[in-house]
Amino acid sequence: MTEGEPAAAYMPGFGNHFASEAVAGALPLGRNSPQRTPFGLYAEQLSGTAFTAPRAENRRSWLYRLRPTANHPPFRPLERNSRLQTAPFQRPPSPNRMRWDPLPMPDGPTDFIDGLVTYGGNGDVGAGSGIAVHLYACNRSMTDRVFFNADGEMLIAPQNGTLRLVTEFGGIEVEPQTIAVIPRGVRFRVELLSGEARGYVCENYGALFRLPDLGPIGSNGLANPRDFETPVAAYEDVDRPVEVVQKFQGGLWATTLDHSPFDVVAWHGNLAPYRYDLRRFNTINTVSFDHPDPSIFTVLTSPSDTPGTANCDFVIFPPRWMVAEDTFRPPWFHRNVMSEFMGLIHGAYDAKEGGGFAPGGASLHNQMSGHGPDQASYDKAIRAELKPHRIADTMAFMFESRMVIRPTDWAMETPTMQLDYDDVWSNFEKGQPTR
Ligand SMILES: [Fe+2]
Repeated sequence: MTEGEPAAAYMPGFGNHFASEAVAGALPLGRNSPQRTPFGLYAEQLSGTAFTAPRAENRRSWLYRLRPTANHPPFRPLERNSRLQTAPFQRPPSPNRMRWDPLPMPDGPTDFIDGLVTYGGNGDVGAGSGIAVHLYACNRSMTDRVFFNADGEMLIAPQNGTLRLVTEFGGIEVEPQTIAVIPRGVRFRVELLSGEARGYVCENYGALFRLPDLGPIGSNGLANPRDFETPVAAYEDVDRPVEVVQKFQGGLWATTLDHSPFDVVAWHGNLAPYRYDLRRFNTINTVSFDHPDPSIFTVLTSPSDTPGTANCDFVIFPPRWMVAEDTFRPPWFHRNVMSEFMGLIHGAYDAKEGGGFAPGGASLHNQMSGHGPDQASYDKAIRAELKPHRIADTMAFMFESRMVIRPTDWAMETPTMQLDYDDVWSNFEKGQPTR
């Protein structure tokens, strides 16, 4: 393995085990915490699940580092980025459908952490349930500043600009149409490989994201395990002040180390950051008629205690062939018991031919709100000659949750909210059964 290059085949949710060392011989053999570790490194366990979680659910890794993480001064409250919010969200939610123009780029120098803006969320971080949905817009790399989130794991989906995520486990680059997941507690720094960057984040307070079961689909399909990549060990031996910012129960706290916390020389285990290229998704769909439920596009799922009813599903709408006969092919009109936050990473979304859902924009269709194709998409679909047709230029996604997604004050008051969104469904002609 090449230093810093991600290794393949990290399987989220399947308990596979990885081992990586930046210096040969740094990983102890046979024991996790021998009396004396190689090179005098400090052995440290990072738990992603309770110690006694069932074996198939259990996630933890062992890190071998220059200094123990415990070596830090007290954290002090950090002046808040007031646009970064945490559940429970208090504002009474509106039942209305919502859509937003793309998040504008910041005016002044802004890094990833300061550039996070919360659109909404649900559940309760203290109870370990629910999600928060953020967008980020930033134009500066984090320098001598690192972040970790004690409140949940973070699924990062760039829409514009490539990020290099420097983590305790090694580095990962993510470009648009690629996602990364950073586990709870893992320190990371976000470097911009382009002048500015924008994207979406799902902060998951609940059960860890994993691959969905495939049922009758069988042993292949959707997101294939071999396409998930985890970093290989790489470390910084740097002795200079580094600010560590953490989010803990919604509050931001900071302390300053006299060294880089990216000092893990070797690690092994089944809890690690990972990335996945959405373009590798093996899309399954009908080859006969009708439009299956969008659950066929599930990349990752965070289950709840109720089987099949997710705390959060991460679902994509990738390029695909449409071949259904005698079928209204775009997403149908529907009302969902689950709540849907959508974003667009690339191209156009096939249910919104009329425009208004731009890359970097967002929409929210909460529990039981009627929605579906806009007028332009409907008119086109019912008149279309149903030849095989490829939707080539698209990559939309959805964070779908069992709990209503409550928008923040910022989301309800920002000028990027489209106040005329309802109009996309206002001019449908009445059906005429007696004609
Ligand atoms: Fe929907």
